[in-house]
Amino acid sequence: MNKKIFSGVQPTGNLHLGNYLGAIKNFVELHNDHHNNCVFCVVDLHAITVKQDPKELRNNIRETVATFIACGINPNKSIIFNQSAVGAHAEAAWILSCVARMGWLNRMTQFKEKAGKDKEKASIGLYSYPVLMAADILLYDTTHVPVGDDQKQHLELCRDIAKKFNTDFEVENFLQIPEPLIQKEFSRIMSLKDASKKMSKSELSDLSRINLTDNKDQIINKIKKAKTDTLPMPSNISELSTRIEAKNLMCIFSSLTNSSLEKTLEMFSGKNFSEFKDNLSEVLINKIYPISLEIKKLIDDKSYLDKILQEGSEKANLTASKKINKIREIVGFL
Ligand code: TYM
Repeated sequence: MNKKIFSGVQPTGNLHLGNYLGAIKNFVELHNDHHNNCVFCVVDLHAITVKQDPKELRNNIRETVATFIACGINPNKSIIFNQSAVGAHAEAAWILSCVARMGWLNRMTQFKEKAGKDKEKASIGLYSYPVLMAADILLYDTTHVPVGDDQKQHLELCRDIAKKFNTDFEVENFLQIPEPLIQKEFSRIMSLKDASKKMSKSELSDLSRINLTDNKDQIINKIKKAKTDTLPMPSNISELSTRIEAKNLMCIFSSLTNSSLEKTLEMFSGKNFSEFKDNLSEVLINKIYPISLEIKKLIDDKSYLDKILQEGSEKANLTASKKINKIREIVGFL
């Protein structure tokens, strides 16, 4: 079977190392192996589930495209587009929200985290967000969805929605049941300040994350200030379960150098953290700083970025409009 790959990234600014190692790095590898079968979506409809400044949103949409390209995605080998430009996403989300059950959505941990204590004040969009995500995926007959570990539950929900649609309307195999592509290791990069929380753009302190637009000094400073403990570097995997800060930094190092955690442990066992941190800063600078420079260059070329989105949207629309037309017919619309 031909793989069809779809994934999305929110244009909320400050794309970070977690987005890169958990998702975008994988997009690059996949699109090299599966020419013309990859769709990468800038999910602007998802972004407005929390308040956005319209001017900033426009900039962030372009910056996300610039980031994809700076990380190595070739727009001629894949489709890059923004979700709001293809109307079928919102339409399919509505239809699927009549298939999805409240009980399923009530279990979503990300909504609970994002809505916080005052759930009553969260937007309805934030609550039904995973249904829109299911629409994104199902419109393209997606077989595989590369994401970080935090999206696993949303993908399970997408599979449940697809199965229920196929059963309710007696259309066996009409909606393709997608498989998550989550790396076995390093699929959850944690905050540099508190390794019990994931690295995230919504975390207040900028010191908690490496942004893909950081310069050399920022990278060095953030790694210097990253939380560790007072012991020498760990020497075996079992030690890592209680030394989560050390584990996170070692995972970042391993992922960036494409090596295993065991190998990283061997390299630094018993050494002090400052030596390890110097090495980590160096690999980060080698990988992230060129991306940062490229983003800053591309961001000035608005017409180039808009052209990529325009062409991508036209291509995405060809596939999505065929699927939504079939969905309309199945549901019984005239
Ligand atoms: P978003 O924009 O929050 O994140 C984009 C991608 O980055 C991954 N990620 C991480 N991976 C490892 N460690 C971290 N600390 C980390 N933080 C973020 C996310 O898992 C994601 O893969 N709902 C999605 C966007 C979306 C989507 C879709 C994804 C909308 N429609 C359809 C796949 C398919 C989201 O908010 O991702």
